[in-house]
Amino acid sequence: MNRLKGKYALITGASQGLGREIALTYAREAAAGLTLVARDSQALVALRKEINQVAPVTRVLVISADLASAEAMELVAATVFSDFGGRLDVLVNNASSIGPSPMPMLIDYPLPDFRRVLDTNPIGPLLLMKKVLPAMIEHGGSIINVTSDAGVVGYAGWGAYGVSKFALEGLSAIWAAELGDTAVSVNLVDPGDMNSAMHRAAEPTADPNDWADPSQLTEVFVYLASDRSAGISGRRSQAQEKGWGKGEEAPRVEIAQAR
Ligand SMILES: NC(=O)c1ccc[n+]([C@@H]2O[C@H](COP(=O)([O-])OP(=O)(O)OC[C@H]3O[C@@H](n4cnc5c(N)ncnc54)[C@H](OP(=O)(O)O)[C@@H]3O)[C@@H](O)[C@H]2O)c1
Repeated sequence: MNRLKGKYALITGASQGLGREIALTYAREAAAGLTLVARDSQALVALRKEINQVAPVTRVLVISADLASAEAMELVAATVFSDFGGRLDVLVNNASSIGPSPMPMLIDYPLPDFRRVLDTNPIGPLLLMKKVLPAMIEHGGSIINVTSDAGVVGYAGWGAYGVSKFALEGLSAIWAAELGDTAVSVNLVDPGDMNSAMHRAAEPTADPNDWADPSQLTEVFVYLASDRSAGISGRRSQAQEKGWGKGEEAPRVEIAQAR
């Protein structure tokens, strides 16, 4: 349970769902420092308390910020580096907005909502990556972007969310290729169907019991944050693929190509 000993990680969207479970798992794996970002500060403070109880060695920094705001992203990066002495080994871009629910078809999609989903899902991660990359290039690091099958298949009705995940997929692939000669890895993880607030809002008539519990899907995130995955970059993994959770790497797809 010491696979992340000494590591500093920043996890966006840590107030609930998958991000919360990744944070708890990283703490159990003895991460040295965790920065938890989301808008709901109460939920983040409650999570910090929980982590302090299960993993007293892990220092926890809580930042309430709106990922759709470029100014907030500046502040997040500055706070992380000042509080953790310039250390950041792992960035998990997990936060996402589903947009209005029920989800409108593209033809009816209100432009302000469309823009806000894009500001949150691919542009927030783009800005954070730009901020943390110089330090990561110097020391090495792992960037894990959380995607969806809605980012590779055009599902009717998944509107801005689907478009935003297509953008995140492209961003990750191109950045993995551009960083090919550095010690920074950029990988995508698709968690698959999970029982979370976002999914319940996206498909209100479906049975959430058919979907996986996010707490069961963190193994791939530990692998990609740990030294065992050094040199693995430009790949797209599925958290529910058989193999994860048994201490081995599950099959994955190459997404990047060097020039
Ligand atoms: N659920 C699924 O079936 C499924 C399937 C495929 C992919 N995914 C992906 O998995 C990831 C986690 O999703 P989830 O299902 O765990 O969702 P969730 O439970 O709804 O959590 C989403 C998180 O994102 C944060 N967030 C949303 N907008 C934000 C903003 N503007 N600024 C800062 N934080 C923001 C939320 O925090 P606040 O509200 O406190 O800000 C929350 O912590 C997402 O990238 C999602 O696209 C989910």
